[in-house]
Amino acid sequence: MRSGISQHGENLYPAFPYTSYALLSTDHILAIRAYLRTLAPVGDPSPANDLAFPYNQRWLMRGWNLLFLASNPMATDPSKDETWNRGAYLVEALAHCGECHTPRGLMFQRKQGEALSGGEVDGWKAWNIPSDPESGVGKWTDEELTAFLSTGHAKGHGPVGGAMREAVDLSFSKLPAADIEAIVAYLRTVAPVKSDPALRITGKALQGQRSLEKS
Ligand code: HEC
Repeated sequence: MRSGISQHGENLYPAFPYTSYALLSTDHILAIRAYLRTLAPVGDPSPANDLAFPYNQRWLMRGWNLLFLASNPMATDPSKDETWNRGAYLVEALAHCGECHTPRGLMFQRKQGEALSGGEVDGWKAWNIPSDPESGVGKWTDEELTAFLSTGHAKGHGPVGGAMREAVDLSFSKLPAADIEAIVAYLRTVAPVKSDPALRITGKALQGQRSLEKS
């Protein structure tokens, strides 16, 4: 879970978000395993990956991991309250928002210093979500963000689509209200980054995706 190594010793690619799970506590990883073990096993073999050279050279990930993988679980910040710390852990580790919302560099690494300022997944724009008023969600109220994260729509902002719909339907909609509140509290403190507003328009034109126009 933390090092991105499969049960057969192969390096995994960060499409499996181990770069975020590297921050999980050991207790939480073991709790996930305990739950998975109670699920009915399914015997179907997993389909093989179909990657062309050089992307099938998994050992290259060893060097990548040295450069870009965190080596310790996330530490609590004693200068911040419990809600903020819970939110930081959810956003950065467990709910791995940055795997989609942080822009990536040439080596597919998440760009330092531009956290959560907008990425791309499956051809969808994963918008800038810190509180810049124009390119981020600075103009959304806490109630709107809470509704969006827990139900996939908020007055003037919904409905959600793409990978975020899956994230909401399968995961965030099942979180207790206190966890959503913690996510919102933390998100409000992430340094806003101004991104190119044209990014939003391109996304919409390409996909018919939700855009600023919705508000
Ligand atoms: C698997 C990828 C993925 C993950 C994980 C993910 N998001 Fe998203 N998110 C997206 C995509 C794609 C969109 C655009 C959806 C759309 O336009 O309908 C989006 C949209 C949003 C929006 C709407 C922004 C706007 O301006 O319209 C917010 C807010 C948001 N995500 C917050 C979060 C938070 C907070 C987390 C973690 C708790 C998170 N997302 C995790 C992919 C993801």
